[in-house]
Amino acid sequence: MLIKSRNNGFIHPVASEITPQGIYTQRRELIRLMATGAAGAALATWAMRDAQAQTVTARPGKLTALTAAKSMVSGATTVEKITEYKDAAGYNNFYEFGTDKSDPARNAHTLQTSPWTVAVEGLVKKPANYTLEDLLKLSPQEERIYRLRCVEGWSMVIPWVGYSLSELIKKVEPLSSAKYVEFVTLADRKTMPYVSTHVLNWPYVEGLRMDEAMHPLTLLTFGMYGEILPKQNGAPLRLVVPWKYGFKSGKSLVKIRFTDKEPMTAWHQAAPQEYGFYSNVNPNVDHPRWSQARERRIGEDGLFSQKRKTLMFNGYEAQVGQLYAGMDLKKYY
Ligand code: MTE
Repeated sequence: MLIKSRNNGFIHPVASEITPQGIYTQRRELIRLMATGAAGAALATWAMRDAQAQTVTARPGKLTALTAAKSMVSGATTVEKITEYKDAAGYNNFYEFGTDKSDPARNAHTLQTSPWTVAVEGLVKKPANYTLEDLLKLSPQEERIYRLRCVEGWSMVIPWVGYSLSELIKKVEPLSSAKYVEFVTLADRKTMPYVSTHVLNWPYVEGLRMDEAMHPLTLLTFGMYGEILPKQNGAPLRLVVPWKYGFKSGKSLVKIRFTDKEPMTAWHQAAPQEYGFYSNVNPNVDHPRWSQARERRIGEDGLFSQKRKTLMFNGYEAQVGQLYAGMDLKKYY
């Protein structure tokens, strides 16, 4: 994510402000050497990403703790090539572990994913603390191939493993007054090095309207590529909301709270003009500082590759368009 500089209101990626000086200087030197003209710049991006992907060495292992995942393809992505594992697990946004795309793969090994509990609370008949094991048993897992389109203009196609969040919601029986669901993720200074910085107001919080949370596409996710989620991808459980920009998909969830008020999300709080509550993927509504009409598919960004057109609701319009019927999507961005 890119956010405004606190110093002068001018705009640049925050990563350069807080990446350790040595690494930052090395990177700048690499870019300086390679970025000689447009082709050079493209090569620099490509080469750096490839170098980042190399940081993914250990894979967390098979889904032994999960029920056997039956394959279910959703979202018309079958003709699209699945992103390589090394890219999906090596190019991440997880600000609790750093703001550079390679930081989470390098730093997230400190995250303790066991034991893990998720508190389900607020406007529900049956509030409960679920252990990870309870959640894994709650409903059969499925493999779903979803695109994830980041607000920064890149996308991936990933086989996720989990079940619809609606399965959990039905179990806890929300009250009729519950209109929204707030998702709170872990903020642990001891294991998450950037939680002591002021990059965001921790914990990372996201939210959905009740009907969005109940939509069958909204996936409570425990794995990817048939394996346990790597820590940098949000272990032990995260959300994947494929028709919204990637930041709506909160990682390492610890609390799910039902409320009658629109939750204040971490990115909206950080930059309200730039990141709204809805954050639906929409090629017709530009980010204030860049167009959202096209995207770069991670893994296909060689020297001469073309950007793809971004699809309305990330290609899931047939499934979710009716949730927003009659809404002005420029106003509710
Ligand atoms: N969840 C937490 N807790 N912290 C984060 O910084 N980043 C979000 C989202 N979930 C983020 C998070 C953003 S900006 C994106 S694009 C996706 O995670 C990236 O998911 P990925 O790294 O698995 O592709």
